[in-house]
Amino acid sequence: MFIPKCKDVSKMMGYIVILGISFSINLVYAVDNSSTEYGMDLFLNKANCQACHGWSGDGRKTDNQMPDGANLRESALDREMVVTAIKCGRPGNNMPAFDRLAYSDGRCYGLLKSQMSAIPMPDPPATLQNREIEAIVDFLFAKVIKQGAMNQEKCIQFWGSKLPLCERITQ
Ligand code: HEC
Repeated sequence: MFIPKCKDVSKMMGYIVILGISFSINLVYAVDNSSTEYGMDLFLNKANCQACHGWSGDGRKTDNQMPDGANLRESALDREMVVTAIKCGRPGNNMPAFDRLAYSDGRCYGLLKSQMSAIPMPDPPATLQNREIEAIVDFLFAKVIKQGAMNQEKCIQFWGSKLPLCERITQ
């Protein structure tokens, strides 16, 4: 049986501490990435933002039947304004509200549903919880907003792998 000497034990403790530190650093990265990935998944699937804004957020919608969404890559909004745009939508401008209670208590621009009958607004593909909206906004600021036009390199980064789709992007 291996019985460690005093010196070995302290060396081992050192290794354990180093291992622990690098493990927690990895964990922080994992959490960070997963929030962005989660947000991207919500953007593309559950919330279907891409239907109007395009998969890369550049306004080239993926669904012809949908209204033309803004080019989010060129958006000048800050985080708080983006959260409000998602929660409250843009009454009269085809951006739906994703907060289930958006027009129930005046939280959005002080407006109530009863005052909205004359203002057309599409239904959101799904309503979203606050934490889902935060994850989408994390994703937007990491990969879309103020990130410049999409190119092959960013496309590969965006999807995490080389796709034929990325090779078709020319500019
Ligand atoms: C039904 C189509 C539609 C869907 C679905 C949609 N949007 Fe929009 N969005 C729009 C339109 C149209 C505008 C432009 C509104 C305007 O001109 O004020 C817009 C504007 C925005 C803006 C404001 C941009 C700016 O710079 O002013 C943000 C941010 C935004 N959308 C994010 C999202 C996100 C995130 C989702 C998914 C959770 C989403 N949108 C889903 C149509 C849509």
